[in-house]
Amino acid sequence: MDVIRYKIQMMAEEAILNGSPFSWFEKVYAEAAGDPLAVPWANLAPNPLLLEWLQKNHRREEGIRALVIGCGLGDDAEELSRWGFKVTAFDISPSATEWCKQRFKHSTVEYRTVDLFDPPEDWKHSFELVFEAFTLQAMPEPLRRLAMERIAEYPKLYGKLLVVSRGRDLDQEVTGPPWPLIKTELGVFKKCGLKQIEMEDLAEKEDPGIRLIRASYVVVDPRLAEDRKWSKTEEDPD
Ligand SMILES: C[S@@+](CC[C@H](N)C(=O)[O-])C[C@H]1O[C@@H](n2cnc3c(N)ncnc32)[C@H](O)[C@@H]1O
Repeated sequence: MDVIRYKIQMMAEEAILNGSPFSWFEKVYAEAAGDPLAVPWANLAPNPLLLEWLQKNHRREEGIRALVIGCGLGDDAEELSRWGFKVTAFDISPSATEWCKQRFKHSTVEYRTVDLFDPPEDWKHSFELVFEAFTLQAMPEPLRRLAMERIAEYPKLYGKLLVVSRGRDLDQEVTGPPWPLIKTELGVFKKCGLKQIEMEDLAEKEDPGIRLIRASYVVVDPRLAEDRKWSKTEEDPD
């Protein structure tokens, strides 16, 4: 294991023991002081599984709303903006969101410092696309399950949720973070009423030893979105 990953695992362990399981993220970004090499998940490029999914599934349309969860250094948010989405991207780390604003000075993305467990009320059932990559796997249980329940509240009626995470088998021991997800864990989204469209178990292109899960969902039950007034012109994707 490389030194940065070991250091991060120690920071995460200490933060969890101290009862503030997310505090270590801000430390990572603040201590990196603008050097992306000190942020192990930062590759300064959009997620290839997001790109591929957009190419396959998204008809370019201006101004529909997307939300990026745990946006890190902002590459996925900027990519969605290039595809015509009106993007809100958030991270719990103020240093990360400030870094995004510095990197993309002329961006139309709205970068916000928000804890996914304490989102603005008007985000509920408000987004046509919600994108989550690698945030869930950075949370220990039971937080991960609770986080999925919150994430399930963001897409609007007929809105989609796309999730990318490392994956593992039930009997595979891991020392996290990251704690790769077992596919069945994502069943929480279905329990929250989202309909699964696709669940793929893939190998990372650069390192085929790493498994990646890409799962997509759609909100089809109007009762899940009843506290908002929905446009009557939306089409049912089915
Ligand atoms: C492993 S990084 C992934 C970053 C980015 N999504 C990517 O793919 O490069 C996880 C991100 O989630 C953020 N995060 C962790 N807990 C969070 C929370 N409770 N609310 C919002 N963001 C959170 C971290 O600060 C970090 O930027």
